This record gives sequence, C-alpha cells and structure tokens, in this order.
Amino acid sequence: MVREWLSVLRLGKTKNDSPEVDDLYKSLDADKLPVHIAIIMDGNGRWATRRGLPRALGHRAGVESLREIVKTCSSLGVGFLTVYAFSTENWKRPADEVSTLMDLLVEYLHKELQELHQNNVMIKTIGRIDELPSKAREALKMAAEETFRNTGLTLNLALNYGGRNEITEAVKQIGRDAAAGKLNPDDIDENIISGYLYTAGMPDPDLVIRPSGEQRISNFLLWQAAYAEFWYSPVLWPDFRKRHLLEALVDYQNRQRRFGGLYQSKK
Ligand code: IPE
Ligand code: IPE
Ligand code: MG
Repeated sequence: MVREWLSVLRLGKTKNDSPEVDDLYKSLDADKLPVHIAIIMDGNGRWATRRGLPRALGHRAGVESLREIVKTCSSLGVGFLTVYAFSTENWKRPADEVSTLMDLLVEYLHKELQELHQNNVMIKTIGRIDELPSKAREALKMAAEETFRNTGLTLNLALNYGGRNEITEAVKQIGRDAAAGKLNPDDIDENIISGYLYTAGMPDPDLVIRPSGEQRISNFLLWQAAYAEFWYSPVLWPDFRKRHLLEALVDYQNRQRRFGGLYQSKK
C-alpha cells in the first residue's frame, strides 16, 4: 500500500483526477516509463467536421489536448515528448488552413511559455524551421532561448518535419563533410548518421502514439522509430486527454520489448 502510494506520488498525480484516472495511475510503474514519447496529433479536422464546425476550430481544440498532455508528461517525469504538429506534406492544404496552424502555434507559444518555463520544460524543434513564416520562427526562437537551461521535460515540436527530408538533409551534409575530408566514409555507422539528424543527442522514441484511427507513420521519425512501440487509438486528437495517455503508458508497460533478441524476464 505504501509502495503504491509512493509510486503514485512520484508520478505527479494531482488531486482532482477521476476514479478512472486514479486507477490508471495505480497501475503505472514509475520505474518503467518511456524516456521518449512521440505523438502524431491527428484528427482535428474530422473532430470539427463531425460537429459541423470549420476545420480551424478542430485545430484550436487540439491545442487544449496538447496543453494537457505536455503538463501530464512533465509531471510524470517523462524525458522527451515529440509532437508532430506540421509535416512537410501539410503545405498541400489550403493556404488559410496552413495560416491558421501557424497562427495557433504562435498563440500557443505566447500563452504557454511562462507556464512551460515554470514547469522546467525545454522547448526544441525538429524540421525545416527556416521555411516557416517569420512570426512562427521568431516565437520559436524566443521560446527556445527562454527555456534552453531547463532540465525537465524536453518538448520537441516537429514543424515542417518529414522523416525522408530529414534523412536526405543528413545524407547531403555527410556527403559535404566527407568531400571536405572531415569524415572518412568508412567510419560512417548508425551513430554517426543519428548525429546528423534533427534529433541528434536525443534518445529514440520508445512509444509512438497515433490517435484518430489512422494506423500509419506519415513520414514521422522514420529512422528513430525503428524499435518504437506503437499505440493507436480511435479517439480524435481534440478529445485526447490524460486518461488516454495513461492508458497508452499502461499498455506500453505490459509489452515485451525484444529488439530482435529474446525476452529476458527480470530475476
Ligand atoms: C492533425 O489533424 C493536424 C495536422 C495535420 C496539422 P488533421 O488536420 O490532419 O485532421 P484530420 O486528419 O483531417 O481529421
Ligand atoms: C500527420 O497527419 C501529420 C501531423 C499530424 C502533423 P496527416 O493528417 O497530415 O497525415 P495523413 O495525411 O493522414 O497521412
Ligand atoms: Mg490528419
């Protein structure tokens, strides 16, 4: 009983949770949390359309889910949370939808920065940030500068991100460095390649979550997710709450990760 209570305390549970969430907390093992969680925040458009609302309102509602999930990961003590917010393919959408998404990003950063900072969250980005509108670039720069000394959760925003683009850019840079004599092609190994990706220095994701019923990777963390566990849910992102994250974590903790080897049970 005491052990259970201590474990729940370490997970940063708050007082006002529902009995269902309380039970999920009790099922969680504080020592077996994923270090890096990645989420494909999908389903905003369908959430809005089902309510007869414009898609933009689905994206706005999705920001609420992001706030709650960031807070929960931060208090659980998760190391890294990477959220897919805008892909290299999302430029195909109508210009007004793209600008809504960029405006929401700026608004999120302005509104949340102080609280994120107080919660010791470090804000980083992955993707071709230099191609984003200047307002978004400035807000991201400010957020990164304000929080770079923080030692809690790293919130990694995947913006104008595509896994294939990331690998292509890495290959180009490796080619340049090899041509300049800075790198011997025979020395190139998986670690060197990882070091040329946007995620250099970060551990690979342990758990990739995709809500909205789609079961595909959509160009997200192609290299890094080689041995990630995947968790899918039919819940649309704007409806995704702490409860769903905890369900994913409990499920993750009940899986056997073998990395191609054989399962070793703890003695
Ligand atoms: C995710 O929701 C947000 C982004 C891709 C930017 P969608 O906008 O893809 O929502 P659906 O998939 O159309 O419902
Ligand atoms: C993936 O969702 C990208 C983000 C959530 C940012 P999409 O909605 O763009 O992916 P597809 O088109 O369903 O594969
Ligand atoms: Mg989608």
